[in-house]
Amino acid sequence: MITPTADVNSVRALLKEMPNPVALVPTMGALHEGHLELLRAARKKVGAHGTVAISIFVNPIQFDRPSDLTNYPKTLTEDLALCEAEGVDVAFTPQKEALYQPDHSVLVRESLLTRHLCGATRPGHFDGVLTIVLKLFNILQPDFAIFGKKDFQQLALIHRMARDLDVPVEVIGHPTVRDADGLALSSRNARLSSEQRADAPRIRRALLAARNLSTSGEQRPAAYLDSARTHLLAEAPSDFSIDYLQLVDAETLQPVATVTKPTVLATACFYNDTRLIDNIEICP
Ligand code: PAJ
Repeated sequence: MITPTADVNSVRALLKEMPNPVALVPTMGALHEGHLELLRAARKKVGAHGTVAISIFVNPIQFDRPSDLTNYPKTLTEDLALCEAEGVDVAFTPQKEALYQPDHSVLVRESLLTRHLCGATRPGHFDGVLTIVLKLFNILQPDFAIFGKKDFQQLALIHRMARDLDVPVEVIGHPTVRDADGLALSSRNARLSSEQRADAPRIRRALLAARNLSTSGEQRPAAYLDSARTHLLAEAPSDFSIDYLQLVDAETLQPVATVTKPTVLATACFYNDTRLIDNIEICP
């Protein structure tokens, strides 16, 4: 039986008594099948006798648009029922007062991998993400932490933080979970109208169409970007727009001059003010 714990000291004491190893899945709630897949991967990693922990916390300091924070779906009761059904052992569900002092003044900032993609279009976002993830690691002290590849830049940054700050947590990436029509699952999908939801697989289709070019040995970044942009915008509804579309080196996350190493084609798109992201790896 899962006991939600909102208090930092209580959850720390609880986890000290739980069997090792511990795998953590950090989330902001509004759980969907993508999150549940991470919980299953966590269970697989620690085995039947290890401990699976989830954190559910809508981290205010990573939101760059106030309306996004206000509109972020909150479904804690349903989330906890899903966690229970997945055999999660510990759920950490703090309020912001439990995690942030009114005068908190220390942030984790990365300076290289954040130059492009969401790092460029969402100022301060990744400072907020890295800060909360490090705090969660310090509070819960997991052996493993599982993150989705849908948030490809986030995953790369957490790997980099663990490496550069000697954080004793093994960071594990998990493939993107999609609906049958290809749309990457996201808590923000709940905010799409039925027309927007029906249209949204255009994002995945555009990335797949661009990746197809690699089968003929295409090496020019512009060819991939043009193809993806054309598919993204073809007969797109008027409330659709592209925030960014970029082709970056899979390791350094810097734009590439030629596609000769593994690269990632990544995009963020808006339906009105609902922002969706997706990416695809291109291995020439
Ligand atoms: P959230 O968006 O709730 O996502 C929690 C975790 O689920 C992240 O690791 C994310 O990459 C993963 N995830 C979301 N959709 C997925 C999908 N379709 N397939 C696979 N994994 C998916 O990401 C965050 O929260 C926050 O930034 C957080 C790391 C919790 C820090 O606040």
